[in-house]
Amino acid sequence: MKKITVVGAGNVGASAAYRVAQLELAREVVLVDIAEGIPEGKALDQWESAPVEGYDTRVVGSSSYDLAENSDLFIVTAGLARKPGMSRDDLLKTNAGIVESVSREIARVAPDSIIIVVSNPLDVMSYVAMKTTGFPRERVLGMAGVLDTARFRSFIALELDCSVEDIQALVLGGHGDTMVPLVNYTSVSGIPLTQLLSQDRIDALIDRTRNGGAEIVGYLKTGSAYYAPATAAVQMAEAICRHKRRILPCAAYLQGEYGQEGIFLGVPCRIGEGGLMDIIEVELTDEEQAQLEKSAEAVRSTIAKLD
Ligand code: NAI
Ligand code: 2OP
Repeated sequence: MKKITVVGAGNVGASAAYRVAQLELAREVVLVDIAEGIPEGKALDQWESAPVEGYDTRVVGSSSYDLAENSDLFIVTAGLARKPGMSRDDLLKTNAGIVESVSREIARVAPDSIIIVVSNPLDVMSYVAMKTTGFPRERVLGMAGVLDTARFRSFIALELDCSVEDIQALVLGGHGDTMVPLVNYTSVSGIPLTQLLSQDRIDALIDRTRNGGAEIVGYLKTGSAYYAPATAAVQMAEAICRHKRRILPCAAYLQGEYGQEGIFLGVPCRIGEGGLMDIIEVELTDEEQAQLEKSAEAVRSTIAKLD
């Protein structure tokens, strides 16, 4: 891939750009932010680490979109982050305006690009990006499921005192308190989680996962998580850049899958060079299906607040 642009040079955006460079996912990474000097300064700082790290991906920054022209992929992190006491939905109106203006610029400078949205509330901001750009659903994906699943996996590894590498899990639904961790699809080297932990402990880990974002906000106080979110977004970018055809939980625009239509929701997606390749429909228990419907309802009611 030639060029990846990260919009928003704050905590998540700067961390994502740095990881893209370290992994050499593109020849060039462009950081764009409205805050004057910040994208230029952070990009130059990252580029100065290239001789030490040994990457040749050029990192550049700007407050205009000129350098972003013809980017293959955008990671959109522009917008306000949560502070203590704020839900992701509290960010709605301000971030919708920001994501709309960013999306207009993306469609103008790179009409054939793929977008990974990170800004919150995630499922609705992905919807705003798709509606504003008019891009097909294959080229607009939201990042949340990889992060929520990583959090669940990391807590299971702590509980069992084993390697994170051996833990497979799947968290679907919206990026909020209604996310749906699927215990039936969670295993440790193939061993069902239910054989290793009691239901009480599993419920506690699910609860911690649902509140994973708030837990970090509670510690940081001035902002929200960014290391894990940035790596999660870049894992999706890597699957696209390297056409890995990975199956990852992503927010995708549903057209009847899982009984839902016209909203973004976290579902298992196969992603590769064109973006979304297909959505995989897994069997759900009645309770999981009900939880997913509740999650979809929450996304729908947030979209309604926009209108
Ligand atoms: P931050 O406050 O550190 O950075 C946001 C950046 O966006 C700032 O540098 C700001 O100047 C910039 N910005 C604002 N308006 C802009 C515009 N019109 N064009 C370009 N840049 C603009 O926030 P952080 O921590 O990086 O979070 C960014 C967003 O990502 C937040 O909305 C946050 O809630 C969301 N987030 C989503 C996650 C997910 O799982 N989907 C996980 C973590 C964060
Ligand atoms: C998180 O889950 C705030 O959405 C962000 O950390």
